Amino acid sequence: MRHFFPALKASHAFLDNAGGTQVPQCVIDAVLTCYTDSFGQRGGAYPASERAGAIIQRAHDVVGTFVNATDRGTCIIGSSSTSLLHLIASAYADALKSGEIAPHRNKIIVSALGHEANVHPWTRLATRGFEIVMWEPRVSREGRDMTARLCMDSLRELLDDRTLLVVFPECSNIIGQREDSIAITKLAHAKGARVVVDAVASAPHRLPDVTMGDFDWLVYSTYKVFGPHAAALYGSFDAFKPLTGPNHWFIPRESLPYKFELGGVSHESAAGIGALDTYMRQFIGADGTRDSRGVFTEAFRKIEAIEGELLECLLGKLRADDRVSVIGDPHVGPDRIAIVSFTVKGRTSESVARELSERGMGVKRGDFYSRRLIERLGIPVDDGVVRISLAHYNTREEIERLKIS
Ligand SMILES: Cc1ncc(COP(=O)(O)O)c(C=O)c1O
Repeated sequence: MRHFFPALKASHAFLDNAGGTQVPQCVIDAVLTCYTDSFGQRGGAYPASERAGAIIQRAHDVVGTFVNATDRGTCIIGSSSTSLLHLIASAYADALKSGEIAPHRNKIIVSALGHEANVHPWTRLATRGFEIVMWEPRVSREGRDMTARLCMDSLRELLDDRTLLVVFPECSNIIGQREDSIAITKLAHAKGARVVVDAVASAPHRLPDVTMGDFDWLVYSTYKVFGPHAAALYGSFDAFKPLTGPNHWFIPRESLPYKFELGGVSHESAAGIGALDTYMRQFIGADGTRDSRGVFTEAFRKIEAIEGELLECLLGKLRADDRVSVIGDPHVGPDRIAIVSFTVKGRTSESVARELSERGMGVKRGDFYSRRLIERLGIPVDDGVVRISLAHYNTREEIERLKIS
């Protein structure tokens, strides 16, 4: 399938896919066609305007299908997951002030395992009438490896009838292990709380399904799923109820998702987002008649299988070097995502990432904006970890380049 992605002709391997993936030609074509053919303002009765409206509708349909929103909720499209989470957090603050949320329901439990995009929007609310409680990850060591996981017992201790939200990552962008979001949501719901699931790290590898976990909010970034630089936030209609979006005062609050899409969405991004459906069909060889969710499901099964083999190869190489500490599970498993972080004894992560880049591996090092987690792991934040994150278009040959002198 590599031929679908023009950028893969580069001499270096793209191995920072958790930072952002490459886009297939059909996404590029869709963006180009949007500019050449459909770049009108919505709401007119002329062809370009109608096509623009259709592009935006299709983007919403595709992200809705991607998370399996069905008829229980809808997706807001925005510029990034960070911006969407700030938007919702701010709407919660407005709702508390206006009495839409009961004053005693003002506690938010925030996981320190997460990327700052799903931490800071909530910690900021401490000055707006909320009590913010950090949910600490459980750090453990085995041999030279180390990991950090969400801890259900700690959550049970933190949860009470005052809890409004439990905010956590489905998968840390450092650890690469899927957490039990369904069990967490059940616990939260039992106390009348809602969940905000950051699926940014897992969505490129495991197809989200908001119906399976009965999630209230779930966010992912489309630029990490073979699309343009944008993001989508699913909210159930129940979760939206007490909130009022910040779009113009004369737009009714029931007008979802528009009330939360300030000034509308980027048309060219919407075009590219909609083309994910096209790529998934090309990838599995499905024609236009198959239902979209079925296509995504089959495509992600295939992605999981391809990535599983690549991940085994990568982890095997790291395990074979006794200077390497894997930060996360060093073995493949059903919930092990193809995001692998590590440090090397006697070397800075900066020097290792530089050496690997020179060997043709496009990787980086740092805290990857999960600064709190890196601190909890006792790793110097100014150097961080080296991270290799795979996509289904990577190859064994690219992973074989991994040599640390
Ligand atoms: C787990 C996780 N959450 C959130 C984000 C933030 O996404 P965005 O860049 O769309 O704001 C990232 C970005 O790397 C991430 O890895």
